[in-house]
Amino acid sequence: MDKYIIRGGRRLIGEVEISGAKNAAVAILPAVILADEPCVIENVPDISDVSICLRILDEMGAKVDMLSPTSYRIDPTTIHSFCVPYESARRMRASYYFLGALLGKYKQARVSMPGGCPLGDRPIDQHLKAFSAVGARCTIDHGMVDLSADRLTGNQIYLDVVSVGATMNAMLAAVRAEGLTVIENVAKEPHIVDLANFLNTMGADIMGAGTDVIKIRGVSKLHGATYSVIPDQIEAGTFMCAAAATGGDVLVKNVIPKHLESITNKLQKIGVVVEEFDDAVRVTVDGPLVKTSIKTMPHPGFPTDMQPQMAALLCLAEGTSIIKEGVWEQRFRYAEELRRMGADISVDGKVAVIEGVGSLMGAPVKACDLRAGAALIIAGLAAKGITEIEDIFHVERGYSNMEGKLQALGADIVKKNVPGASVKKALA
Ligand code: UD1
Repeated sequence: MDKYIIRGGRRLIGEVEISGAKNAAVAILPAVILADEPCVIENVPDISDVSICLRILDEMGAKVDMLSPTSYRIDPTTIHSFCVPYESARRMRASYYFLGALLGKYKQARVSMPGGCPLGDRPIDQHLKAFSAVGARCTIDHGMVDLSADRLTGNQIYLDVVSVGATMNAMLAAVRAEGLTVIENVAKEPHIVDLANFLNTMGADIMGAGTDVIKIRGVSKLHGATYSVIPDQIEAGTFMCAAAATGGDVLVKNVIPKHLESITNKLQKIGVVVEEFDDAVRVTVDGPLVKTSIKTMPHPGFPTDMQPQMAALLCLAEGTSIIKEGVWEQRFRYAEELRRMGADISVDGKVAVIEGVGSLMGAPVKACDLRAGAALIIAGLAAKGITEIEDIFHVERGYSNMEGKLQALGADIVKKNVPGASVKKALA
């Protein structure tokens, strides 16, 4: 099993190119199913969640050709199976997008209940509510979600909770339904807008993505398209935190600064210098970092997927910082690992209190989920001595060539295979 070995204490200096957004790519790739012709998807991140998506498409009969390490031609017209079995679905939360896409195209889908990072209860009731609203019969039997419909018809859908997955799935199911679908109380993340833009490029009629209400006028056909995935705001934010934690000077390239606003604002508030350019941000530090309070919220609030990385940084800031997790039940499992590195963090339910300690010490630690792994990398880069991070398969679900990008910035990080260690299968 692979682990990262980091010798901390080096300032990160240089430029880093951000890859395509994981959470957009894992919705756009299944969305190709809806097309009646082949599509080319570019700026696809080279991460294990994407590999799983592509494998599922291949297993269903789609023709998948790699044009470059970040672009794929996918022909969905050869699909002959409408089922995503347990072995594939359990590895990745986003396998639920195959439900909406298969239903939207073939009016039937059979997908195992999705896996994903262990962040607490992760129900899909709002996804099913949306599928039912457009006319699908939904049953769950032996861990498989079964959807079928004679016809799909537009409807009013009010989501009881703001959910990224349910918003995207409702769009996928409604895009080829007859008539008008209005989805209210939707999520507004950049990846929602990206999926809508991709579907519209294929000939869909979707308005309002990025606002609270999305209106979809169903179309009977979707043609092929070439589309480039947006840059990953969370990967960018992770490198911004890593630069700040090491007192570095990093130009984070291929980003949309508008998508980073809530992260940039928080970093500036604690004393990090962030300069914005058209498609890049430069991160430097010219004084001590100071405490802050953070509450994670759906977009445009502070993203929950940046919470662990900010926590790692706040361990190094002067004063007492408070983090309230507003999305997931259990997102502080990494605190115990940071404590092993000398952090002073106490957690009570969905609130963490961090007393700045000035410096951290290297230690053996374990990544318990994707963003927790990123937080431990940031802590390891800033810490004195050697940090060994186990279970990095979590990190590889969502970060493309993390160690290579950090090495290019001057970090002392290597990925090592540890023979004899128990081989765990990725939950992702
Ligand atoms: C997506 C992201 C994940 C991110 C999260 C919030 C992907 C593949 N994953 O996850 O990285 O942390 O958005 O930004 O894009 N909920 C319900 N019922 C539902 C669906 C959700 O109660 O049917 C609740 C969840 O328990 C959670 C909240 O709604 O408390 C938000 O979840 P949601 O936005 O759906 O997260 P995901 O789409 O799973």
